[in-house]
Formats: sequence, structure tokens, C-alpha cells
Amino acid sequence: MVARVTARLVVLVSGAGTNLQALLDACADPAYGARVVAVGADRDGIEGLERATRADVPTFVVRLPDCADRDEFNDRTLDAIAAYEPDLVVLAGYMKILAPRVVERFPTLNTHPALLPSFPGAHAVADALAYGVTVTGVTVHFVDAGVDTGPVVAQRAVEVRLGDDEAALHERIKAVERALLVETVGRLVRDGYRIEGRKVVLP
Ligand code: GAR
Repeated sequence: MVARVTARLVVLVSGAGTNLQALLDACADPAYGARVVAVGADRDGIEGLERATRADVPTFVVRLPDCADRDEFNDRTLDAIAAYEPDLVVLAGYMKILAPRVVERFPTLNTHPALLPSFPGAHAVADALAYGVTVTGVTVHFVDAGVDTGPVVAQRAVEVRLGDDEAALHERIKAVERALLVETVGRLVRDGYRIEGRKVVLP
């Protein structure tokens, strides 16, 4: 991606949207280099959409149950994203797997609450706890055709504490995750990057 003055972000969410909020807050500073032009979701009635509305950011919702099949879901989601001409799409707690044609149309970043390639999928925090690792963390990566398999941009470790349950560990991960996501998106949009095989090269 070639950096431009203010990059256009479309952020997709499925829940609380605290990572979205961190991006919205960062974008309030013009020096950050990006603005959130739309927030999309795969469900109604979530705090993530409320956060967008409070920030005067347009929203869209494409629900799988409203579509004839996954093809239509992907088509409608892609059309909704494309209408905002994003430079970067950020999956921030978005819990649907999108078809390759959707994630390949625009550079698409995902934040995942584990140190990939360990614990991909929708239950990363519970899986890490169940495995008994003493260190887990967060990964910000580009999305490819697989599930949590794309090139890694940034990772940060989080210690698992004795007595952690999923909620406690996830909260500590999310505190680290919000900072890493803001830092990583900022660097990508301001400085540009290139992808060489599995390596994301930042200047
Ligand atoms: C985040 O921890 C994100 O990594 C995770 O959902 C949380 C959303 O929090 N995403 C996944 O597990 C995707 N597989 P938020 O809604 O408060 O930003």
C-alpha cells in the first residue's frame, strides 16, 4: 500500500468494539494519518455500532440470516465495504470468515487474541488457557484466504497468570491489543509497507 495523506479505514466489528474505539480515538488526531469512514457489522444491536454512531461514522449491517447463502453474504458485504473506497479494511473483533474475493479486494488487517500460528479461530483465549501455555498474546496480521494464516505485521506477548479465567486473560490481552492495533495501523498508513512472501516489511 502506498501511504496517502489521510487513509480511509473501514472497520468491521461483531461485538463490544473496544478496538474500534481505540482506532476512533487515535483518528481524532490528524497527525495519526487515518480516519474511519465506515463501520460494518454482521449483526445488529452491538456496542461497536453504537460507538460508530456516537462518533458520527456511518454504519452498515450485513447479516448472514438475511442472505440466501454465503455467496450473497460475501457479495453484499463486499459491496458495502467498496462503497466507502477504503485504503485499508480492519477486522476488529469481526467474527465471520469472509471469502477470498472480499479480503483480497482491499488490503485487510485482522487482530487476533493469540500469538499466531498458535490458537487460530474463534476461541483463541479459551484454547490457550486449556492448553496451559504461560505466554500468549496478540497478533495483527494481513488476512489471506485461510483462517488466521496471513502474513504477520506485529505481535505482542501477554503472560498467563495462575488463576486466570478466559474473561480476565482476554481483558489483559485486549489492553495490549488496542495499543498494538493503533500503533500498527498508524505505521502502515503513514509509512507504507510491502509484503515479501510471508514477511511484511515496514520502512
Ligand atoms: C478482540 O480481542 C479480537 O482480537 C477478538 O475479539 C475481540 C474483540 O474485542 N477477535 C477474534 O477473536 C477473532 N478471531 P472488541 O469488540 O472489544 O474490540
